[in-house]
Amino acid sequence: MNFLEGEILQGQRALVTGGSSGIGAAVCRALGKAGARVVVNYLSSKEEGEQVVADIEAAGGQAMAIQADVSKEDDVKRMFAQMIEAWGSIDILVANAGMQWDGPFHEMSLKQWNKVLDVNLTGQFLCAREAVIEFNRRGIDSDLSCAAGKIICMSSVHDIIPWAGHVNYATSKGGVLMFMQSLAQEVAHNKIRVNAISPGAIKTPINRAAWETPEAEAELLKLIPYERVGNPEDIGRAAVWLASDASDYMTGTTSYIDGGMTLYPGFREGG
Ligand code: BGC
Repeated sequence: MNFLEGEILQGQRALVTGGSSGIGAAVCRALGKAGARVVVNYLSSKEEGEQVVADIEAAGGQAMAIQADVSKEDDVKRMFAQMIEAWGSIDILVANAGMQWDGPFHEMSLKQWNKVLDVNLTGQFLCAREAVIEFNRRGIDSDLSCAAGKIICMSSVHDIIPWAGHVNYATSKGGVLMFMQSLAQEVAHNKIRVNAISPGAIKTPINRAAWETPEAEAELLKLIPYERVGNPEDIGRAAVWLASDASDYMTGTTSYIDGGMTLYPGFREGG
C-alpha cells in the first residue's frame, strides 16, 4: 500500500481509452487501486477488456468494459452516453488509445498516414470534447475533487524526439502536445485540468521487437540513461497522481516518464 492506493481517487469515475492492453491496462489497474471506478475501453478484444475489469474487481475495485473505436464520432458519443447513463458522470479521462503503422516515408500510403492521425490525434479530440462537455455541465463536485474534471493525454517522447521511419506516429504525438496545451489554456477557467504523459520505451506489445531479445534490449538501453526499460506500472502511478488533487494547480504540462530518453543520452560522453 502506498499513498497512490486506497483513497486518493475514491468515488471518481474514470474512462481509459485503449484500456485493454499495454500502458492503458496498467493505468486502468492503478486508477482502480486508487479507488476510482474505471471504464476500460477496448477496440476489438472484448476478452482483454474483460480481463482488466476482472483484475480491478479482484483487487476490490469497480470497472466495466465498453467497446468503441475512438476515431469514430458515433462510437465515442455512444461510449460516453453509456458511461454517464451507468455512473452519472465522468471525472477523469485518460486519452490513451494509440497505434503505430510504421514505414519508410516514400512508401507511406495516405491510408497509413490518415489511420495513425485518426486514432492518435483525432481520437483524443473526440474523447476530450465529450469529457469537457460533461465536466462543464456538471461543474465541480467538491466531495470528489477540487477540479471539475481532469484529462490526461497519453503522448510519447516522440512529441519532441523526431523519429525516422515513423513520421506519421511522431507527427500525431507532436500534435498531441499542442492539442493538450491549447485545450488546457481554453478550459482552465472552467477548472478543468489537462496534462500529458510522454512515456519513453515501455515494455508493451507496441514495441515488442525493441526489447524482446537481449540484443535488441541492449541496443535500446543505449538510449535510456536510467538503464532499464520502463514498465506499464511506471506510467500507471503517474496517471493516478495527475488525476488526483495531489497535482491540483498543474495544467498544460507534459511529464516525460522515460528514464532520461529525452536527455540526449549521446552527450553523456560526446559533445
Ligand atoms: C513508441 C515505442 C517506442 C518508444 C520510445 C513510444 O511512443 O510507441 O514504440 O519504443 O516511444 O522510442
